[in-house]
Amino acid sequence: MIAIGNDHTALEMKQAVIEVLDELGLSYEDCGPNTDESFDYPASGEKAARAVAEGRCDLGIVICGTGIGIGLTANKVRGIRCAMVSEPYSALMARRHNDANMIAIGARVIGTEVAKLIVRTFLTEKFEGGRHARRVGMIMDVEKQETEQ
Ligand code: RB5
Repeated sequence: MIAIGNDHTALEMKQAVIEVLDELGLSYEDCGPNTDESFDYPASGEKAARAVAEGRCDLGIVICGTGIGIGLTANKVRGIRCAMVSEPYSALMARRHNDANMIAIGARVIGTEVAKLIVRTFLTEKFEGGRHARRVGMIMDVEKQETEQ
């Protein structure tokens, strides 16, 4: 199950992402919105991130104009590692090395076909573990220390 969240800038791109999920046979939880009325991205970013953090979804994809606001929001939820990506190489490495469980995309930054390639890459790559697991563990230790203060 894949969580998807967006804002009003990203309806068309969300449809393109859903096409990729359908191609890959993956179901999704749509955290909205589904109208082009102005929408505050933190609401859907948080919803999608919580769906991943709580284990209802394995991975998440969030989209706003730049991918920045919604990605920053997702990263505020404990357990989330959301990579803001604009090209497939970063999407690949976000999975292989960073074990990112979400990506954020900018609907006003990249085209639909690049977004589809990013999403396909992110959803089909695997975490390599090994030394990268140690580093991801160190990232999560920082989060742990923050929440313990
Ligand atoms: C909306 O105008 C825009 O600010 C939003 O989509 C996003 O780019 C914020 O980071």
